[in-house]
Amino acid sequence: MTRRAVRFAIAGVFGVSSSAHAQAPAAADASLIDGWRAVRIADCARCHGKDHEGLAAPSIVGFARTQSRERFIAAILDGNPEQGMPAYRGNPLIENHIDAIYRYFAARADGSVAAGAMPGRASDTATTLE
Ligand code: HEC
Repeated sequence: MTRRAVRFAIAGVFGVSSSAHAQAPAAADASLIDGWRAVRIADCARCHGKDHEGLAAPSIVGFARTQSRERFIAAILDGNPEQGMPAYRGNPLIENHIDAIYRYFAARADGSVAAGAMPGRASDTATTLE
């Protein structure tokens, strides 16, 4: 696929969720990529499994499907240290991108984003996010 075709495909994928949020596709696309990238850098998958669908820890996708945005965000920022979920409050990578992280998992949960790498980002190697 050409770069242009990839961008077009991304716009198509996010058209559904972006209309629900009344945002331009370009903005939704950037936010979802930020969320995906933040969880990749934080390596949530080492406990939550490949594609975050559950391993030692439960599926984050399933949680996003059944819980409110507020409960989802609290589960990540407050964590549950006794049960093995770290509290990410004060971690800028997560705290600064918490809305994008929620939107990424909400999009995974409603099927508008597939498991695996973001479209066109299979070789993403960024290790930091502002
Ligand atoms: C060290 C292992 C570990 C890491 C790393 C980790 N988690 Fe968790 N997480 C857990 C465990 C264990 C639970 C279940 C806690 C419980 O039983 O209440 C959990 C629970 C959750 C829940 C609530 C799910 C539920 O069903 O209760 C969410 C949402 C979540 N984690 C998101 C994340 C995100 C996002 C990241 C990365 C920023 C992350 N976790 C990183 C271990 C981890």
